[in-house]
Amino acid sequence: MFENSEVLVYFENQFVALKDAKINILTHALHYGTGVFEGIRGYWIAEEEELFLVRCEEHYRRWKANCRILNIDPPKSAEELTEITAELVRLNHFRTDVYVRPLSYMSSARIGVRPDGHSSFALVAVPFGVYLESTKGIHAGVVSWRRVDDGAIPARGKICGAYVNSVLATTEAHANGFDEAIILNQNGHVAEGATCNLFMVRNGKIITPPPSDNILEGLTRACIIDLARRELHMEVVERSIDRSELYICDELFLTGTAVEVAPITMVDHRQVGHGQIGFLTGKLRELYFQATRGRIADYQAWLHPVYQPVLAALRS
Ligand SMILES: Cc1ncc(COP(=O)(O)O)c(C=O)c1O
Repeated sequence: MFENSEVLVYFENQFVALKDAKINILTHALHYGTGVFEGIRGYWIAEEEELFLVRCEEHYRRWKANCRILNIDPPKSAEELTEITAELVRLNHFRTDVYVRPLSYMSSARIGVRPDGHSSFALVAVPFGVYLESTKGIHAGVVSWRRVDDGAIPARGKICGAYVNSVLATTEAHANGFDEAIILNQNGHVAEGATCNLFMVRNGKIITPPPSDNILEGLTRACIIDLARRELHMEVVERSIDRSELYICDELFLTGTAVEVAPITMVDHRQVGHGQIGFLTGKLRELYFQATRGRIADYQAWLHPVYQPVLAALRS
């Protein structure tokens, strides 16, 4: 459980202590999974006394778009939500890496599946470090659960109910001794990890499944595609990946806001390539690390500084 109940959260249009942000036990989303969430990281750079929110506005744009799948319309723009998030971090005086969890949800408190148009949203920010330890590479395993299909619950949506699929996959992967699950879609093609996208290096190309293979259209995935093309001049192909390609490829890695770039060195008890972190994987991981800490000028547009603009405004 998150211990610090005094931490401030944004709930029902105001900043309140976490312990006071309560919902009714009959809330629609709690019973039927009718929420849409996001996950945003912020990195604290001690030398600059600054905390950078990574692609914050894009996360909120994706969130608002995904909310439309459930006919929810959070009544704030992506820009306003970014400002509220920055204020939330400032009010909590966070001087450490953070994770921000926006959640919109159907809020009516009664029995019955039929939505009645009531929704609410909350933003929570918590101190957050490493989510998946992967410095030496991880062992991933294909699980027996199949990815939710767009015709059932759209995987691109970050819809709360769909994460039962990720929970089942993670539980099975861990029970089988793997660090992370690889989930196939209904066609038997590789979709993604439980909370991350998958990339493969094969025959000199970087390959990742397309959104039509029932993946979440990850923003870290988009960052990696950008970095691979612009910085490494690599060809990146979006195409379906067969399970057996996982066993014969040269490199594999996972990407996501929480997992960042996690090299896979073993898959289903087989070595990936030479069983070491792949060359391109290592390069991309380092580039992503540097870019998200504001150390590559070309990618500073990805970052929203939390403290310095306000301090500068106070000084002027
Ligand atoms: C199922 C799933 N796939 C992929 C991702 C990665 O998306 P992003 O890079 O935008 O965090 C996530 C992130 O939570 C996820 O839940």
